[in-house]
Parts: sequence; structure tokens; C-alpha cells
Amino acid sequence: MKALRLNALAIALGLGALLPGTTMAASDEPISVIQPPQSINIGMAELGKKLYFDPRLSKSGFISCNSCHNLSMGGTDNLPTSIGDKWQQGPINAPTVLNSSLNVAQFWDGRAADLKAQAGGPIANPGEMAFTHTLAVDVLQSIPGYVREFKMVFGKDKIDIDEVTLAIAEFEKTLVTPNARFDQWLLGKQDALSAKEKAGYALFKDSGCIACHNGEAVGGNSFQKMGVVEPYQAKSPAEGRSAVTGKDADRFNFKVPTLRNVEMTYPYFHDGAANTLTEAVDIMGRLQLGRTFSAEENANIVAFLKTLTGDQPAFTLPILPPSTDATPRPKP
Ligand code: HEM
Ligand code: HEM
Repeated sequence: MKALRLNALAIALGLGALLPGTTMAASDEPISVIQPPQSINIGMAELGKKLYFDPRLSKSGFISCNSCHNLSMGGTDNLPTSIGDKWQQGPINAPTVLNSSLNVAQFWDGRAADLKAQAGGPIANPGEMAFTHTLAVDVLQSIPGYVREFKMVFGKDKIDIDEVTLAIAEFEKTLVTPNARFDQWLLGKQDALSAKEKAGYALFKDSGCIACHNGEAVGGNSFQKMGVVEPYQAKSPAEGRSAVTGKDADRFNFKVPTLRNVEMTYPYFHDGAANTLTEAVDIMGRLQLGRTFSAEENANIVAFLKTLTGDQPAFTLPILPPSTDATPRPKP
């Protein structure tokens, strides 16, 4: 009976049924089980999914959110810095959109308060999609399939940019990745992790990584200096949080990235300079903690980090409503 109730809870949490013989751990770990999204407006999220994949929101008609946050590749582009309109190389690495609803704020420097505020940015960013909000709305308004769907969701004939960003943000809220092997272990499935992975987690806690990478997303919840013990020689001109606060003390403070799905989101750091997890863990140990890990310690931490890969978003690929004769065409 008790096992049944535990299984029901595990299923409600999106974790699937617990295996027979496992118990729910009353976990006091500094990392918590990832929760599935709450109260999603399905109609709005479906519309947002179409917009997320629609390259017609860019000037060239070629770039969608998914170009740089590819949901087949951990919500990133796996490039050191992104390629935008006219093949421009951006200044900074594209963070994953997976679990981004858990972030304390959006962007490396936190300049957008939430996902809705963030979503307007790339459409009008000359280095990314290089469009304007007015032109993006004109394109959508000229497509009857979109007009119908916006009306169904928002109850109006006229589309506005607020509805566009709201719908994209609603879709992004669905992009959580539950059921990582680490979550299964947190919920009491002892054999979900190998001895090597458990040793890596112990070292992750004991050496101090956990001070900055903790909570549900194993990061994403604070801004910290990059280069606490030793300075970081960045390959990007970005100065981090000081660009938002104007405070000198915030120079080179960046949002601590989530480590969920980190094996998929290479290359690492805001300048994308670390190609592998081995390299990223080595740099973190030395620069943030003044500690040089042996090859075995490094490999153990990397093995632990790979247990944070959860179920990737699974959905039907959206089929976008076709343009009409009246739809403004892409610009070179
Ligand atoms: C940052 C979503 C289009 C490149 C972000 C973040 C989100 C996001 C949620 C913040 C993640 C975080 O801080 O952890 C979107 C959506 C898009 C879109 C919904 C479509 C409307 C693009 C495109 C590119 C791109 C087309 C590449 C050309 C980046 C980069 C950052 C970023 C480089 C980091 C910028 C910084 O922190 O200063 N995006 N993105 N994004 N995205 Fe996008
Ligand atoms: C970035 C792991 C300790 C703050 C990262 C990344 C990894 C990582 C893999 C790259 C993630 C990505 O780019 O997607 C670790 C490990 C640690 C550790 C294994 C222990 C050895 C710390 C500590 C702090 C911290 C103690 C805070 C003082 C940050 C920040 C970034 C980061 C701010 C982003 C830096 C940038 O991009 O410039 N960490 N971390 N980390 N970590 Fe850690």
C-alpha cells in the first residue's frame, strides 16, 4: 500500500514508477529533485512551440530560436559563441533553454527578469534574428493559421508582441528535464548511481562546488565571480553582472549555469572556451576553489555530472502554417 502511494507520487513528479524495494529518501541533499512544470496553459504552449521553431520571426527567414537553442542538442548550439544574422559571430555562448524557467533571471548577466522579458530580445537583436517586433507581428498577422490560433488563445483578432513573447515563454516552461539518474537516486533508488558517480558527488560537495551549484537546477540561482582564486583569461569582452548593476564589485560576476544536462551543453563558460567537461572541471577547481584535482578525481566528478542528464523534452514537431501572398518576404 505504502509502495503504491510512493509510486503514485513518483509518477506525479514525472519520475516514473519507483522500482520494487526502493524507498523514498527524506533527502537533505543540497541538490533537489527536479519538478515537472506546474499549471501550463496547453493551447498557449502549443502556439509558443510553433513560434519557437518559426524562422520567419527573423529578418533572413532562416533563423529561429531553435537555431541557437537546438532541442535536439540539449537546448544549445554546441558552438563557442552563436552564429546570427549574416553569419555574424556573437560575443557570448548561448546557454541552454532547458530548465531555464528555474533561473533567478535570464542571460549570463541577468538583464532580463524572466522568460517573457527575455523572448523579445533575440527577435530584434541585430546580431541574432535582426528583425523588428513590428515586422515580426506583420508577418504573423498575414498568416491565417496564426491569426486563428492567436485568437483561440488570446481572444483577439490583432496579434501583438506581448502575446508572442508570452506564448514562447509558456512553451519554454515545458522544457524541464525530470528523471535524471541523479533524481532517481535522490528518491531512494540506491543503485541508480555507480560507486564512481557517488564518489564524484561526494567530492563535488566536499570540495565546495556545491556552494554555487545547488538547488533544483544545480545552479542558475545566483551570480558569482568567475575567477575567485585565480583570474580567468576570458575570450569574450563580456563583463557580466556589472553591465546591469553598474557596480565595479560585480565585474566578471556571471549567472552560475545550471549543471543539469551539462554533458550535452558543451562548450562551456560564457565564452565557450572549455571544450570538454574534463577541462571545465579542472578550471573550476583551480580558479574557484584553488584546488587541483587528480585525473581520477576529475573523472569521478565528470561521471557524477553526467548523471544529471534528464529526460529530454519529447513532443511532436510543429508544422507551421504556410505564408500567404501577403506575407512580407525574407530580406537579404
Ligand atoms: C540567451 C531563449 C533566439 C543566442 C537566451 C536565454 C533564453 C533564450 C531563455 C537565457 C538563458 C539563460 O540565461 O540561462 C531564446 C528564444 C529565442 C532565442 C526564446 C527566440 C525568440 C536566439 C538566437 C540566438 C540566440 C536566434 C543566436 C543567434 C543566445 C545567446 C544567449 C541567449 C548568445 C546569451 C546572451 C547573453 O547572456 O548575453 N536565449 N533565444 N538566441 N540566446 Fe537565445
Ligand atoms: C561554470 C562545474 C565550482 C561558479 C561551471 C561549469 C561547470 C562547473 C561544468 C560550466 C557550465 C556551463 O558553461 O554550462 C563546477 C565544479 C566545481 C565548481 C565541478 C567544483 C570544482 C564553482 C564555485 C563557484 C562556481 C565554487 C562559485 C564561486 C561558476 C560560475 C560559472 C560556472 C560563475 C560560469 C562561469 C563563466 O561562464 O564565466 N561550473 N563548478 N563554480 N561555475 Fe562552477
